Amino acid sequence: MAGQLIVFEGIEGAGKTTQLQRAATWLRSQLTVPVLTSREPGGTFLGQQLRSLLLDVRQQDEIEPRAELLLYAADRAQHVEQYLKPNLAQGAIILCDRYTDSTLAYQGYGRQLELGLIEHLNAIASGGLTPNLTFWLDLDPEIGLQRITERGAPNRLEQEALDFHQRVREGYMTLAQNHPQRIIRLDANTAADDLEQEIRTILQTRLSETGYESFSKNFSKNFSKNFSKN
Ligand code: TYD
Repeated sequence: MAGQLIVFEGIEGAGKTTQLQRAATWLRSQLTVPVLTSREPGGTFLGQQLRSLLLDVRQQDEIEPRAELLLYAADRAQHVEQYLKPNLAQGAIILCDRYTDSTLAYQGYGRQLELGLIEHLNAIASGGLTPNLTFWLDLDPEIGLQRITERGAPNRLEQEALDFHQRVREGYMTLAQNHPQRIIRLDANTAADDLEQEIRTILQTRLSETGYESFSKNFSKNFSKNFSKN
């Protein structure tokens, strides 16, 4: 059986990364198939270099929105071919911090580039690979930006004004309405432990429906062991 691509999305400060790591730890304790984590931008060696070009606040040039869009697309094309597809083909479950919806939300709704163009580019960059499930951790941007400020050293995108982040959130809202089966909205204002539990329940239901019958340690599947841990 091919693996599963499960994506975590949301604005800055929503707690995606924490929840993704907790979900990965839990899934690893429940399943014997490899559970990998990755992120965009930066899931490959090339991607890490693109990530620092994209997010470094010391960037001298003001990056043009279309240049930004193409750099995220380049990161994705590399990530899909070199990391996601080969590991999914071997049956891995991959939890990925951001994917194509980020580009629609940030470059489409945030930067206001044409949505049709971004959909086309997403299709090219992803090589047609769509997530099996997407968790959207929804949070009021005022709260998200407050959390970022407390954390210190905001990156280039995090330094954007509140109205940018509000447009991004509205973008996610529209995407969730358009893809109700795939995108699940979670209230990111919920306590982290409760949110973790909610995510576990959804994962258990969805993965059972997909044929992951048992959440026991001895659950066996055909897979090759030479996965790189991310
Ligand atoms: P990151 O530090 O990973 O932010 P977070 O921890 O909130 O995920 O930085 C990724 C940034 O890149 C984030 O601000 C969103 C932005 N981004 C886009 O604008 N478009 C994209 O396609 C992707 C993947 C990310």
